[in-house]
Amino acid sequence: MITPVILSGGSGTRLWPLSRSGRPKQLLPLTADQTMLQLTVARATGDGFGAPIIVANAAHAEEIEQQLAAADQPDGLIILEPSARNTAPAIALAAFAAAPDATLLVMPSDHVISDVAAFHAAIRRARPLVDQGWMITFGIAAHAPETGYGYICRGDELAPGVHRVERFVEKPDLATAQSYLDQGCYSWNGGIFLFTAGAFIEALETQAPAMAIAAREAVAQARRDNQRLHPDPVAFGRSPADSIDYAVMEKADRVAVVPVEMGWSDVGSWDALHELARKDNAGNASHGDVIALDTRNCLIRSEGPVVAAVGVQNLIIVATEDAVLILPRGDSQQVKRAIAELQKDG
Ligand code: GDD
Ligand code: MG
Repeated sequence: MITPVILSGGSGTRLWPLSRSGRPKQLLPLTADQTMLQLTVARATGDGFGAPIIVANAAHAEEIEQQLAAADQPDGLIILEPSARNTAPAIALAAFAAAPDATLLVMPSDHVISDVAAFHAAIRRARPLVDQGWMITFGIAAHAPETGYGYICRGDELAPGVHRVERFVEKPDLATAQSYLDQGCYSWNGGIFLFTAGAFIEALETQAPAMAIAAREAVAQARRDNQRLHPDPVAFGRSPADSIDYAVMEKADRVAVVPVEMGWSDVGSWDALHELARKDNAGNASHGDVIALDTRNCLIRSEGPVVAAVGVQNLIIVATEDAVLILPRGDSQQVKRAIAELQKDG
C-alpha cells in the first residue's frame, strides 16, 4: 500500500495576480474543472493507494476539506503546519506521522500529469528498490536550460528503467544548466519522490539532524482533532527551513531515478498554462466572464469583471477583482518585474 503525501504549502507568485490571494495555485481550477489539488489526489487513488496525508498551511484547512468532500475524495490526514519551513520539514512531519515502513509517494499539489498510466507504471518499476531502502526520484526529459528545476544525472541501471543517481543538482545557474543539457545524462527532477518513511528519516537524520529532531518532537507533541493533526508550534518552529532537494537529495546516498514521460508540467508560468489549457478554434483559452472578438491565441481569464478582448493576438490577460495583468505571450516570466515594482511601492 502506498500512502500519498501531498504538499500544499507553496505561495508561488509566477501566476500573479491569481495565485497571490488566500487561494494559492493548487486550490484553483487551472487546467480542468477540478482544482489542481483534487487532480493530484485523484491520480493517487484506487488500487494500491491508501488514504492521503496532506501537509498544508493551517489557513487552508477548511478549503482543503471542502474540496476533498466536493470531489468525493478519500478522507485522509491533514497535517497543518504551524509555520512554513519549506518542503524538507513538511515531508518530515508526514514521515513521522506515518508508520516507519510505510511507503510514501510525495507529490506537489500544483503539477499536471496528463498520462497517469505512465506515472503508475513508473511507480511499479521503482517499487522493488523502495523496499530495499532506496529513495526514488522521477526524471523528466529536459528540453531547455530551465534554472528553476533540479537536475539529475543518471548512472548505472539498478533494475529495468531505474538508475542510480550519479548527481543531483538543485537549481543550477543558466550556464551550468546548459552544460547539463549538452551532456545528455541529465533529466529534470519532477519534484515527486517515493521512499519508505524510515529511509527518508534516516537520510534526514544524517543530512539535516536539527530538522529531524524538530519534526519528530512536533509530531510527538501534536494535537489531533478528527482528521486534522496540529504539530506543536514551538518544536516545529525550531526547524531550519529548506527544501528536500537542497537538504536531502543533493547529498544522500541510495537515491535512484526513474526516467518517465508522463505529460508532466509544473504549470510554472502563464505561458505553460496557455499551452496546457483547452483552446477554442481561434487558439484562445478563456475562463470566466470573457468576450473575445477577432482575437487569436490569447489566454484570457477573469475572476470577476467582464473582460472584452477585441482584435488582439498573442496576449495573456488576467483580471481579478483588484488587479489586471497584460503580457505578450512568450514572455510571461516577466510577471516578476510587475511584482518587484509593487513591492517597491510597499
Ligand atoms: N506543505 C508545504 N509546506 N508545502 C510546501 C512548502 C511548505 O513549506 N513549500 C513548498 N511546498 C509545496 C509547493 O506548494 C509545491 O507543491 C511543492 O511543495 C514544491 O515546492 P516549490 O516551491 O514549488 O519547489 P520548486 O518548484 O522551487 O522546486 C521543486 O520542484 C521542481 C519541479 O517543479 C524541486 O523539487 C525541483 O528540484 C523540481 O525540479
Ligand atoms: Mg514548483
